[in-house]
Amino acid sequence: MKFFVDTADIDQIKELLAYGMVDGVTTNPSIIAKSGLDILEVTKEICSIVDGPVSAEVVALDHETMLAEGLKLAKIADNIAVKVPLTWAGLQTCKVLSDQGIMVNVTLCFSANQALLAAKAGATFISPFIGRLDDINLDGLELIDDIRTIYDNYGFETQILAASIRNANHMSECAKIGADVCTAPPNVIKAMANHVLTDNGLAGFMADIKKAGIKIL
Ligand code: E4P
Repeated sequence: MKFFVDTADIDQIKELLAYGMVDGVTTNPSIIAKSGLDILEVTKEICSIVDGPVSAEVVALDHETMLAEGLKLAKIADNIAVKVPLTWAGLQTCKVLSDQGIMVNVTLCFSANQALLAAKAGATFISPFIGRLDDINLDGLELIDDIRTIYDNYGFETQILAASIRNANHMSECAKIGADVCTAPPNVIKAMANHVLTDNGLAGFMADIKKAGIKIL
């Protein structure tokens, strides 16, 4: 399973890159707004440090403007994935861009039918939002499972990019289901390393190291 980092924070991306934990990056208008940076400039900078796909989202609602925005974003770098919303205008834009060989990430997916449409439109990635479904008492992980079944039934090549990941458990559950990619905030990726038995075990070892005066260097 690939790890994408759901952030526009360059320092956080660089930090995780050093551990081999960044196969790509996703952003959205809220993430860009929070960064306070210019979308074109920050996206260019991210593309210069990350080899994998970097998702940058269009801001228009109609197909013609979305397409123009998508083409402009795609010119930033070869590893741009243009992110479009799961609307009919977004699907039309997805079809045109993917026919031109441009990677497309169809976002704001909340149902298996929407994922089926995105695959038919040639999406490179479909982004089902787990956390936002959980927020309204639906089962986000069940949606990932349903999409996996449907895509495997027909051999669709669209990659399932599980999004709106809120905790480390979402990561391992997505890996068990077979999501192709998870995009998560840096703190969630870091939290995957946490285990109380690791902390306790290390404390015990350190006490014995001190008592016995064990040294290697
Ligand atoms: C990723 O592509 C999405 O924009 C992101 O994961 C949304 O996460 P949120 O529901 O926590 O805002």
